[in-house]
Amino acid sequence: MGVTDWSHNSWYHSLLLRQIPQRAERVLDVGCGSGTLARRLAATVPQVDAFDSSPVMLAEARVGAPANLSLQVADALTVELPEDAYDAVVSVAVLHHLPLVEALPRMAGWLRPGGVLAAVALPRADLPRGLPVEAAAAVAHHGLGLAFSALRPMTGADLFRHEDSHGDMPVSDGALTTREVRTAAEAVLPGVQVRRLLFWRYLLVWRKPL
Ligand SMILES: C[S@@+](CC[C@H](N)C(=O)[O-])C[C@H]1O[C@@H](n2cnc3c(N)ncnc32)[C@H](O)[C@@H]1O
Repeated sequence: MGVTDWSHNSWYHSLLLRQIPQRAERVLDVGCGSGTLARRLAATVPQVDAFDSSPVMLAEARVGAPANLSLQVADALTVELPEDAYDAVVSVAVLHHLPLVEALPRMAGWLRPGGVLAAVALPRADLPRGLPVEAAAAVAHHGLGLAFSALRPMTGADLFRHEDSHGDMPVSDGALTTREVRTAAEAVLPGVQVRRLLFWRYLLVWRKPL
């Protein structure tokens, strides 16, 4: 990890938070890792449930977790959760670890009618058509990385610094392009929106019909 490296997952936390319905009472974070997003959610949502299949990441997430954040070690493909229970189901950098046709219907089932599924995950590069976005991402990544590393000592702010647990985090590359994700997701969640984000991520948003 270089000195100008920074977390694209953290960069997109605010975008995900904006997808959550107003006055949401109960939100689920799938594959919460060390719990950074879950803790942010718990600052405004009365009840946040979160799980991850890695006991190491869950142990990190438990450190300093607030009382309204429930955490468990569980696998997205087998965990038993209440149906129609959540105002939002969110996930960062996890969907590309999972078979979409199995995972998406499970996540949709946990949503109440009108609830929102919002996930950011990693696509495979779509070349050559995706060359302009790949080039723009590389330039912006390095420019922002230089700016963040210069500003951190001056401001004391984290500015998308990788968490200390970053090295322990199970990671994988995206196997599907954003277009392939859109096609696979549309087959199981009609009306789903999938769009490429600049920094090597896509955003998937689906609202459960009333
Ligand atoms: C790249 S990390 C992202 C963690 C966290 N969402 C974040 O943004 O920092 C991917 C996480 O997905 C978890 N994961 C992978 N497969 C999973 C599964 N089948 N069920 C639950 N969690 C899973 C991993 O343990 C890991 O913590």
